[in-house]
Order: sequence, then structure tokens, then C-alpha cells
Amino acid sequence: MKKIMADKKNIRRIGVLTSGGDSPGMNAAVRAVTRSAVSRGIRVMGILKGYRGLIDGELVEYTERSVSNIINRGGTVLYSDRCDEFRYDPGIQKAADTCAEFEIDGIVVIGGDGTFRGAMDLSRKGILTAGIPATIDNDITATDYCIGFDTAMNTVIDMVDRLRDTSESHARCSVVEVMGRDAGLIALNCGIAVGASGIMIKEICHNGLGPDNCSLLDIEAEMIEGMRQSQVNGKRNFLILASEGMGDDYAELLTKKLAGAGFDARFARLAHVQRGGAPTLRDRFAATQLGDRAVELILEGKKNLIVGFKDDKVIDIDMEYAQNLDKRYKGKLSDEEFFKLGEADQKNINEHIARKQADIKKLYEISRRMSI
Ligand code: F6P
Repeated sequence: MKKIMADKKNIRRIGVLTSGGDSPGMNAAVRAVTRSAVSRGIRVMGILKGYRGLIDGELVEYTERSVSNIINRGGTVLYSDRCDEFRYDPGIQKAADTCAEFEIDGIVVIGGDGTFRGAMDLSRKGILTAGIPATIDNDITATDYCIGFDTAMNTVIDMVDRLRDTSESHARCSVVEVMGRDAGLIALNCGIAVGASGIMIKEICHNGLGPDNCSLLDIEAEMIEGMRQSQVNGKRNFLILASEGMGDDYAELLTKKLAGAGFDARFARLAHVQRGGAPTLRDRFAATQLGDRAVELILEGKKNLIVGFKDDKVIDIDMEYAQNLDKRYKGKLSDEEFFKLGEADQKNINEHIARKQADIKKLYEISRRMSI
């Protein structure tokens, strides 16, 4: 395709980096950013090891060919890092100096909330920034979807289907701990997709979205009673998905409790296997759409925006708003800070959180009806 010259002549180069925990589809996003920019006549620098590479000046020129054959690869060819030095000003200034040295006017950052915080710091130094949400946890509240979630969930259901085979042979119960940090979305969605007898997530068990006045003990007791009844009418295998957000060793302790209740129970932690593997169609597709839009935003001279999805449409979201929404949803924005926000933001945040919580509640209720 003929290269179209960029309308924004003042953008000389853009950089692209991946930061935080990797997720499948990050490479597809790097490819999309590179090709979207290069096809518009803008040069691209790949920044290695996230913000670490920006501080240390580890950059390589990326052409359209540099990103060949990576759309299908898991991990990130740019490598990733959680960089403490970038949290404070000398580090942020060094990163800005690197941008000046390499004539980079804008950076597309691919990662989670920590990555976006870094982007906001960098934009205060005059660099245009756009964020692409990529985390298997799908826990960036402002977007319906983060790159990597679908692939991770497909990995989980594949693993749990295997556990079902052996659990059925031996009439066992498998308790499976899945990732998600504080978010239970992997456990909830996969629990439904594998037909789990129980889904233990923080949102339901600790954050008040469970059945009225139910404690964790009540939820466990109801699940165990349901399993006993199913056993009486012929069910042999049981699968329970617990999110790591339930707390350290929770899933292991639950396994012991089930053994105490008479089940032949086994524990499995899927851990980082969930973060690897070739991205699914959904993740490649989302990465390509978001990568292209992120470049457009930089060429339009915009900064501090995240690209994301709402009702399957690509949207732009103000990073600061996204951060406040995220903190409020995760209980990290005090009332005092919340009421300092504009009325429109307060209203949007409240509505967004109520919608998200209702969706989780609804899915959980469906899962309970399916578990008889
Ligand atoms: O955010 C992605 C994630 O995989 C979480 O689900 C998990 O809690 C965390 O990262 C693990 O972090 P690390 O890769 O540092 O072990």
C-alpha cells in the first residue's frame, strides 16, 4: 500500500512500549501501532522493556517488516517490566530526555493501570500519550474489554476441561485457582463456560454483590449442600473456580474444607500458564482496532487518552477520568476525593459502577442456576 503522508507534520516519530504484566495480543497491538504509523509516513521506535527502556535509551527503529510474523505470537517482542525508577521524577525526566534525543513526539503505551499512570506522568513533560488496555485480568474499569482476556480464558477452559476428564474418572472435585488480581472476571466467565459447581470471587464473597446478607461461610455452605444433592442424583465430578483475589491460599483451604466435607478434592493453581499462548481471534482483532485508533489520536495531537470498547465499539476515554473511575470501583478513591470531581463525572462514575456490578451479579445468578 502506498504510504499516506501524515496530516500532522509536527509529529516526527512515535514510540511504542509494553509495560506491566504481559498479555496475549500485545504483539498484535505493537504491530498495529507500527503499521498504522508507518503507512501514514510516521517513523516508529520500539521501546524495549517498557519504561525501563525509555529511561535507559533502549530503542530500536521499527519498520513495517520489523513487526512481520508477530500477530500470532504470545508474550511481547518488546519485553515488559514493572519499573520503579519511573515512578519518581528523576526517572520520568530521564525518559522525557530520551524522547527528545530520539525525536519522539508521542508514545503509545500498552498495558494496565500502572502503565497509564506512567503515561500521564510523561505527558506532563510534553509528550503526547495514548494508552491501549492490555491485561488478562480485564480490570480496567473504563473499558468493556482489555486485550488478552479472551485468550487467557480460553486457556483456562482448556485446562479445566482436562481436569474434568480425570475428575469424572475418579469421582473427584477439582478446585482451580485462576488469576485476575482483585478482579474475579476470569473465574466468573470461565466458571460459567466450564459448568462449575461453584465460583468464588471477591466481588460476590467479600464486596457485597452476593445474595442478601450472605457471608462467605453461607456461600460455601450453600455450594457444598448443592454439590451433595447433585451427588445423590448421580453427579460424579465437581469443578470449582476460585479467583486469586479471594486471598492467599484461599483455594487450597477450600479444597481442605471440601475434603473434610467428604469430597475427594484436589487443588490446582493455573498461574502464569494463563498469560502465555497465541492470541485468539478476538484479541488479535481488538489489538488491531485499538492500535490503529491510538495512532490516530497521537496524530490528531491528543494526549492522555485510552482507547477501549463500549458495546463493541471503539471509544476514546480520558485517562484521568478512567483512573478515577477505576479507583472508585476498586474502593481506592475516598468520598472526599470523589466529591471533588465534577458533577457529570460523579454521575457517570456511579452509573458505570452500578452497571458493572449488575452485570457481575447477573452472571453469578446464572451460574448458580446452572450448577444443580
Ligand atoms: O495483572 C496480570 C497478572 O497476571 C495478575 O492476574 C496476577 O495477579 C499478576 O499479574 C501476577 O504478577 P507477576 O507476573 O508479577 O507474578
